[in-house]
Order: sequence, then structure tokens, then C-alpha cells
Amino acid sequence: MSINPAFLEYFKNEFFSEDADGFGAFQKSLLRPLKKTLRINTNKRDIGEFVSDKETVGWKFGPTPNGHVFHVDREDTTIALGSNPEHLRGDYYIQELSASMSVWLLADGAVHPEPHRILEIASSPGGKTTQIAEHYPNAFVFANEFNKERIVPLLENIERMGLLNIAVTNMNGVQFRELPECFDLVLLDAPCSGEGIGYKAAESLRYWNVKNVRTIARLQKKLLIAGLTSLKPGGMLVYSTCTLNRMENEEVLEAAKEEFGDDIEVVFSKRFWPHTEIAGGFFVAKISKKIIAYTPEPRQNDEIRSRIWVPKWNVHSYVERGTENSARSSRFGEVSFKPNRDIGVLCDRALETVEKALETLGTELPADAKLYRYKNDILLIRSTGDIAPILDRVYAIRFGMRIGRIEGNVFEPQAPLGVHFVHRNLSKIELKPDMLRDFLRGLPVATGDTDESGMVQVLWNGAPLGFGTVHNGLLKSQLPKYMYWK
Ligand SMILES: C[S@@+](CC[C@H](N)C(=O)[O-])C[C@H]1O[C@@H](n2cnc3c(N)ncnc32)[C@H](O)[C@@H]1O
Repeated sequence: MSINPAFLEYFKNEFFSEDADGFGAFQKSLLRPLKKTLRINTNKRDIGEFVSDKETVGWKFGPTPNGHVFHVDREDTTIALGSNPEHLRGDYYIQELSASMSVWLLADGAVHPEPHRILEIASSPGGKTTQIAEHYPNAFVFANEFNKERIVPLLENIERMGLLNIAVTNMNGVQFRELPECFDLVLLDAPCSGEGIGYKAAESLRYWNVKNVRTIARLQKKLLIAGLTSLKPGGMLVYSTCTLNRMENEEVLEAAKEEFGDDIEVVFSKRFWPHTEIAGGFFVAKISKKIIAYTPEPRQNDEIRSRIWVPKWNVHSYVERGTENSARSSRFGEVSFKPNRDIGVLCDRALETVEKALETLGTELPADAKLYRYKNDILLIRSTGDIAPILDRVYAIRFGMRIGRIEGNVFEPQAPLGVHFVHRNLSKIELKPDMLRDFLRGLPVATGDTDESGMVQVLWNGAPLGFGTVHNGLLKSQLPKYMYWK
């Protein structure tokens, strides 16, 4: 796949006019495949323990500048990294190293147990949302994504990583300008032209043109101004892109500076060049907001109608939605700023039914988790801090984890309950390596025990992998669809 000459000319003139060797190395690095990296989910696993467990089965780990992310090499690659049971139950997330740096920098590489209210403006597929929840385990995170088609992978990844402290919204990120000074921290991992991800989406380099770049930069400016408006004074925002040109990076920061003046300060910024970092091309900037209140100018509704960014080459399964999209954004003011009134607390009778069922299963839930209801779904939520004022204003399409359904007086456990929690009173079946493939394909697997019958909890390496049912010595999985063998 070729690289567009206009792209090469722009980069040569802007960055490499006096560095022919550097330019050559940069060009060579653009389409080069990257070494695999994974991020260990510290909400589920201790890093040292996970590494030593997997080393015993031939995995080799190499350190990276992100203490939770490792290069990984495996002797046996018959099972893809993404189909491995530890991946399926959320012990790790396959995340590119540069992409992992936005949240790492936001958190200064630390885990912060204090409660925070955090917004991620452009979240799907959820690499950074789930990473935020690891660095801020007691935060409540609003994960927004405008593209409806990209909501499903976001929900799946949040569920796969076992998170209870996230609400998902489906708004145009520009609309967050209407929620001033609400969040302690904001991440804007902006939609971009993708120059840094040629290793997986070469089309971004082939179809590159300045007009496209300027169009997306206009949206990025609006999104950044919205993010900074929604940030509380004293808060911190990280802006990142997987692209390298100045128009989508420094010029976007300059536009924010023009809008906010001395109320904001860019405290750090870095361009991750693929040829020097040996990682994806990336840009990240950390912006602090001073304790001087910012009052946004009132604006007309039509000014905030910016469209979703859909690249022409259709990478990452972005889908063009044409008229449906523009109709929706023009209605945004009325549509999104209302709460989801179907989410609420359980009535006494429903609460009793659910608690009784969980007691029968011997389910061990976190002490600070609360039960809510969305229609017939039972949701489990951990929310520290006051999130009610935000939930009163935005329409959350998912709130916490869906652990079951209630029909009359009957509670039906749903798959995530079997993946992420231990049920003391359920029989356990430890999966052997030769049972794994069929189990994950939903095929019956012989257990060698014909006495057992009914619902069981299946374990892998001693920890839950999900629910199953056994009958006549055959075990069948009850896993969520995204855990099926691919
Ligand atoms: C770079 S991706 C985000 C990746 C994500 N942060 C992660 O780490 O997995 C940018 C996302 O912005 C979404 N997007 C595009 N236009 C948007 C808008 N106006 N408001 C909010 N999100 C938008 C895209 O659909 C895409 O999912």
C-alpha cells in the first residue's frame, strides 16, 4: 500500500527539512507492524502474579514506559491473544503502547483511590475508558461515544473488564459544552486522521489530504473547547490523537488557548514518533484549568451542530449514517439533556427477590455496590461521589453492569455475573486445557462426572470464567456472545 505524496511532502517540510536520515526512518516506520502489547487489568489481577502465572506457560514479557503495559511474546500462538481465556474474562486488554500513554499521563502513572467524576468524550472501543477505571478505581466515569455503531464494542469491553462504575452516553461530544464545570478530569482522545496507525490502517496514509485534516481539526477544536468547559476549575484534561500533523495537535491546543486565555495551561505535550518510540504514532497534551470560573458565551443551537467524523476509507468499522445523523444532531438540545427515567432503584419486592436469589447462589458482591433497575434488567453499580446531578442531565444508555433480569418474582442471572463474581453455593468445574476450545465454541464438553446436574460456575486457573450448565456428564457454556471462540 502506497503513502500519499502530499503526506510525505507535508511531513518533510514541517518536521524533517534538515534531517534526511530521520525522514527516511520515519517513512520506513509508518507501515511497519508493531510488537504486541497488553495492559494488565489491575482491578482484577496483581501485575506480578499475572506475569509469573503466564511465564509458566511460555509467555515472555518485556517492560514498557507504561508500568501496566508489557510487550508480550508467546511460544505457542495457536490461541490468539484475544481468544485467550484471561483476555475473555478481562484480566488484560490488548492495547497499543502509545495509545496507553494518554491515561498513564493523566494519572501520572499512579492509582488514585479517591473518588473522582471523570468524562471521556470519545470512548469507543473503550481502551482508555477501561484504563481510566484502573487508575481511578473509585471514580465514576461517563464514557461518551457519538457513533451508535461503535457503542456495542464499548459496552462489551466495559463488561468484559468487569466494571461497575461507568455510565455510557451516546451524544455528540460537542454538547458537553452545555455541562460547564462538572468533571474533575476529562479525556479527549479525539477522532483524527489516523496518521500514526498506518501499521493497522494503511488507508489513512494512502488517502491523506490537507482538506480532510482541516475538517477534522475543526471538530477537534470544538470538542476540546467543550471538554475544557465541562472541566472543573483546578481539574486536568488530556487531549490525544493517533495522528502527527500540527493542524490536529498544536493548532487545536492554540485554538483552546485563544478561547480560554490564561484560564488554561498546557503543562505537558509530546509527539510519539513511530521511528524513535518503536510504537504507534501519537500525540498527547495535558492541560490544567485554573481556579478561575469560565462562563461560556451563550450560543445558538446551530453553531454546535458538528457532525460525527467518519473517515472516507471506513477504518475501524465506522459507518456513514448520512441523514439520520444530521437529523439527530439538530435535535440534540432537546434529546440528550434528559435523564434516562427507566433507570431507578428497585421496589422493595424486587429487591427482596434479587437479594434472596443472590443469597441462594452465595454470591460475593463488592460491599459498596448498589442494585438498580433498567426496565427488567438488574444493574450493579459502584458510584462514589455525587453523580446524580450529571445523571439528571444526560441520557445514560448503560449504567453499571447488567447482572440479571427480573420477571415477576424470578431473578434470572445474566452471563457477566458468572464471569466476574464468585458464587459460593454453585458447584465448580475447573476447565482443563483440552476442554477449552469446545467450551468457548458453545459445544458440549465431557466432564467425566454424570452425577452433577444444573447450573455450575466454570473456573479457569482457579478463577471464574463464566456460568455453565451440566447434564448427563456434558457441560455447556453460558457465556456472553463476545466470549465465544473467534
Ligand atoms: C480515537 S477514537 C477513540 C478511541 C477510544 N478513546 C479508545 O481508547 O478506545 C475516536 C472516537 O470518537 C468518536 N467520535 C467521532 N465524532 C465524535 C463526536 N462528534 N463526539 C464524540 N465522539 C465522536 C468516533 O466514533 C471514535 O469512536
